[in-house]
Amino acid sequence: MSEPLVAVQGLHKSYRMGKVDLHVLRGVSFSLSAGSFTAVVGASGSGKSTLLHLIGMLDKPDRGMVALSGQDVTALPTRRRDGMRCRDVGFVFQFYHLLGELNVLENVLLPAKVACSTLAWLGQRAKARQAATETLDRLGLGDRLRHRPKELSGGERQRVAIARALMNRPRILLADEPTGNLDSASGKGIMELLKQCNRRDGQTILMVTHDASLAEQTDRILHLRDGRCNEL
Ligand SMILES: Nc1ncnc2c1ncn2[C@@H]1O[C@H](COP(=O)(O)OP(=O)(O)OP(=O)(O)O)[C@@H](O)[C@H]1O
Ligand SMILES: [Mg+2]
Repeated sequence: MSEPLVAVQGLHKSYRMGKVDLHVLRGVSFSLSAGSFTAVVGASGSGKSTLLHLIGMLDKPDRGMVALSGQDVTALPTRRRDGMRCRDVGFVFQFYHLLGELNVLENVLLPAKVACSTLAWLGQRAKARQAATETLDRLGLGDRLRHRPKELSGGERQRVAIARALMNRPRILLADEPTGNLDSASGKGIMELLKQCNRRDGQTILMVTHDASLAEQTDRILHLRDGRCNEL
């Protein structure tokens, strides 16, 4: 069998709150094959966002391992982790995390800019702008390019966050409730876009959702409960 693109083994994560340790993840293990589309479901507070942050190298586990293409990323030096995150992972945050001082287009272009040197950016800027504009068009934001995040609705901000996550065409897309703030028609549109990224572009997607009808449209559903992950 070929090596999984993402392997998570025995992940533990606690948060210390005063004198109490909140043991959120208690030995989470699973793997994702390249090109798969997986949903993560579970009650609020069960650790879904925590799990995505660990896989996306935004935080480190207390114990256990996250491997990308067989490489244990928890043990890598910070610069290597930053480089891999930038190149290989697209993140749609539950609460967007757009930069308020940048407009829509600038927010979406940011990952492309960060991924290359200043000199290389000068050569690639025009192409990147075109790609970003096309994605924003596809997401129905073609006439919002110069808006700042505070001038957008919640659903529009979420779509900008999705466009930003797709900018570098990452191998892995981690989406934390990407339709959580959308009406059902916009939610369906986002789901179609994610399916297209998965089927057409071969992106491996791990998506947190509270929407059972969306989870059912993926290849596989993982249920996070009591700090552990089981297949549904
Ligand atoms: N930085 C932190 N410091 C302390 N506790 C935290 C921190 N981040 C998360 N927690 C706690 O860990 C638990 C899991 O949080 P997490 O955000 O992963 O849940 P979730 O499953 O994503 O929930 P939701 O569906 O509401 O988004 C929660 O009880 C939360 O209060
Ligand atoms: Mg969450």
